[in-house]
Amino acid sequence: MNISGIRLTNSPLETSRLGKKFSRYLKPGAVVFLTGGLGSGKTTFVKGIARGLGIKKAVTSSSFILAREYPEKNFCHMDLYRINKKQFMDAGLQEYVSEKGITAIEWSEKIRALWGDFRRNKKYIVNFKILKDNRRKIIYYVPGD
Ligand SMILES: Nc1ncnc2c1ncn2[C@@H]1O[C@H](COP(=O)(O)OP(=O)(O)OP(=O)(O)O)[C@@H](O)[C@H]1O
Ligand SMILES: [Mg+2]
Repeated sequence: MNISGIRLTNSPLETSRLGKKFSRYLKPGAVVFLTGGLGSGKTTFVKGIARGLGIKKAVTSSSFILAREYPEKNFCHMDLYRINKKQFMDAGLQEYVSEKGITAIEWSEKIRALWGDFRRNKKYIVNFKILKDNRRKIIYYVPGD
């Protein structure tokens, strides 16, 4: 799989499998900025990433939890739905983006300024769009491209 490009999926299972495949490209320090509307498949994709990293625990949507760490696999799953940049900084969430681990950030378009941060980390943007019913369009970018 090329790291930039467009994919279509037709079920949640296909989306999580795509996340699992994508996880193979993620090296320590990778930050995955997930964007796209409610129910578009971000958490489903992150579940696949987590599975690919060997995380056995269930990954759940974290809209009420700003950051959930899976320290045994150096993985952190964040959700910015409810916060702005000031709250992000005040909560010290930038500390969770490490150079050793992998970070997946849902609703990352809420704090677009973050896309330019973390200069020493490899960054990806993955955008989700509902086409209809169970069909989703997933687009990979590398910020700055
Ligand atoms: N192709 C598909 N890929 C992913 N999810 C799908 C697909 N088709 C249907 N769905 C459904 O869409 C929903 C996606 O939910 P998910 O929690 O992954 O979205 P999300 O983008 O994280 O939403 P939120 O903005 O609330 O965090 C689930 O109910 C899932 O069953
Ligand atoms: Mg979600």
